Amino acid sequence: IALSAQASGGTSASSSSDAGSLAFDPDAYTKLTTTVTDTAGDEHSVTYHFWKAITYVAKPLDAAYQSLNVSVPVEIDGTAVDASDAPILFANSVGGYMPSSVADATGVGAGGMGGGMGGGAPSGAPSASASASASAPGANGNTNATGGALSSNQLLALAAGYVVVEPGARGRTLKNSAGEYYGVAPAAIVDLKAAVRYLRANKGVVPGDTDRIVSAGTSAGGALSSLLGASGDSPLYDKYLEELGAADASDAIFATGAWCPITDLEHADASYEWNWGTNALGTGKQVDQAVSRTLRAQFAEYQAGLKLEGLNGFGTLNARNYDEYLVKQYLEPSATTYLAALSDTARETYLAANTFITWKNGRARFSWADFLTHVGARKKTVPAFDAFDLSAGENNEFGKGTVISRHFTAYSLKNDTTGLTAKRLDSDIPEVLRLMNPMYFLADKPNPGRSKHWWIRLGTKDSDTSLTVSANIAAAAHGLGDDVDHLYYWDQGHGANTDPGDFITWIAKVTG
Ligand code: DHB
Repeated sequence: IALSAQASGGTSASSSSDAGSLAFDPDAYTKLTTTVTDTAGDEHSVTYHFWKAITYVAKPLDAAYQSLNVSVPVEIDGTAVDASDAPILFANSVGGYMPSSVADATGVGAGGMGGGMGGGAPSGAPSASASASASAPGANGNTNATGGALSSNQLLALAAGYVVVEPGARGRTLKNSAGEYYGVAPAAIVDLKAAVRYLRANKGVVPGDTDRIVSAGTSAGGALSSLLGASGDSPLYDKYLEELGAADASDAIFATGAWCPITDLEHADASYEWNWGTNALGTGKQVDQAVSRTLRAQFAEYQAGLKLEGLNGFGTLNARNYDEYLVKQYLEPSATTYLAALSDTARETYLAANTFITWKNGRARFSWADFLTHVGARKKTVPAFDAFDLSAGENNEFGKGTVISRHFTAYSLKNDTTGLTAKRLDSDIPEVLRLMNPMYFLADKPNPGRSKHWWIRLGTKDSDTSLTVSANIAAAAHGLGDDVDHLYYWDQGHGANTDPGDFITWIAKVTG
């Protein structure tokens, strides 16, 4: 990898902060060294200054989560580097909308990520690792992600001379002594915005260029990253930020990286059935097809209302042409890239085992129906996100006060099986949904403060949500004139990140 930082004499702070009680202390670091293996397999020795668990709001509800870590490279392969004006990778570790703390972090390569929502490691093997125990970016869901090991993105960023900031954030399971859930929506996005404001209030004091913040996250963290990018400087969050004593500064970010964003939650059940509706569950059973069809019809209405143009002149996306759009724009190119990189023998073996693919003139072709069969079992039951029995993680994400879980779609409330008698969603739900949905800021009310650069990635075998979710974000951002780099990783499942080196190159390109 290209080391883009320049040689110079250290990271002394020159200007003073106007951040008041939220002033960054330039001297409060420890010096650490780690080894980063780049995507070519070469090792780099990186010495960096590490600031641990800085509380980023003046009135924290829970400082264990409302704090961030900063890592600043000062020497790479024996050469001094000055990262004081380098891009800042702002990498959250949120998974499953769970709490995410960096309080126990001990620097690169130490500690470990939380457990996995899908169980086991994400399928994209990291191609960067610290000498100790770096993990791939977290599809970590059901346990707290205790920041510790940097992911491949963070490690490669550090070795490229970039500043790495890891924000913690509250999550849905946090409960105080009064039994109130204080980490449910919109807590996580408010916290991430507060963390960005902290950095921007300390412009010139905290190392790195606070006007070149690049956000990254995976799954729920990808959802939050895309939301952070889409909603920059929106006044809708002001009252929540004020309550926390967030710094009075911009929360706009420069660029957004999102891997398998689990977002657009109020339309996710419908989108899921449009995509995976006829695929059986892992048990071999199909989900209730009447429910699935009803949700599918809702997707048609939703997608038509969006009036999004597909990339490359595809035309307006709707429920009838979206399968062709996915196949032509994303899935066939994804398979083509995968197959082209294989040796002739490996490609022949793959094609012999996957006869639904026609390989001709170096291009893969197949039908949507065959693709769905190839993916196989759908991961989630119906409805996938707003469960009739309130059992989904997202029901908890939309909890409130002492109520652990709530419905957030009219359809699932109507079909509730927990004994609820309410005829309408709680009155605050529409606002909370807006605060959590990047599509609101890209399609409904285009937000001028949004990030203008988008890196979006998704595995073709990821049935944690519909394949349309990230394609819609890409189409909406592209339609606003933003710079969009979106592709699907062939045969990869949830949480995959198989091109972290390309992401680092992309950061250099868009921030350069
Ligand atoms: C995550 C996965 C999901 O399937 C989901 O619904 C929400 C979050 C995750 O891995 O973060």
